[in-house]
Amino acid sequence: MISSTAVTASLLPESPRLTAQLSKTNLTHDLVLASGALAVHLLPDDERGLELFRTLGMRTGHEAPKLDDVSAVAGQTGSPILQDAVAYAEARVSAAHEVEGSTIIVADVVAGARDRDSPVLTIESVRKRLPPEWAEEWARRLEEELAAARRQR
Ligand SMILES: Cc1cc2nc3c(=O)[nH]c(=O)nc-3n(C[C@H](O)[C@H](O)[C@H](O)COP(=O)(O)O)c2cc1C
Repeated sequence: MISSTAVTASLLPESPRLTAQLSKTNLTHDLVLASGALAVHLLPDDERGLELFRTLGMRTGHEAPKLDDVSAVAGQTGSPILQDAVAYAEARVSAAHEVEGSTIIVADVVAGARDRDSPVLTIESVRKRLPPEWAEEWARRLEEELAAARRQR
């Protein structure tokens, strides 16, 4: 999935940690909690990065497989490491806090790398460059997510 909530959660460079909010309706939520691990990536600010944004953030793996056309290798934790990413961090879940509609996870980073020196995709760049039909698709997915989250209340 695409995430805007995956952020650093440690002051110490020798024990890096991250947190993320995972909506219960997302397949990623179930995969991360079942495996106890995840990998987060920075995407490239190019056409491929935009395509990955669409594939990962505008569709749910509950409806159809999403990673078939995404080249990935298994990392140390078994999490998929996307070959087209600029950088990644792989982490094992150390705590999970369940709240209404979501689980907030804390995870210890076990591996990571910056694989290329390209600019990173930002939400500002996405908004500027997203073709109108993809923007509509994104709006529809957001509506679905909001409806699903409200049903869970
Ligand atoms: C910019 C952006 C940020 C997002 N941030 C989050 C997030 O922090 N947590 C979350 O659960 N979903 C987030 N989403 C939604 C998921 O990426 C989206 O629901 C995705 O389709 C879930 O796919 P899955 O069901 O295959 O896991 C975000 C989507 C976008 C486009």
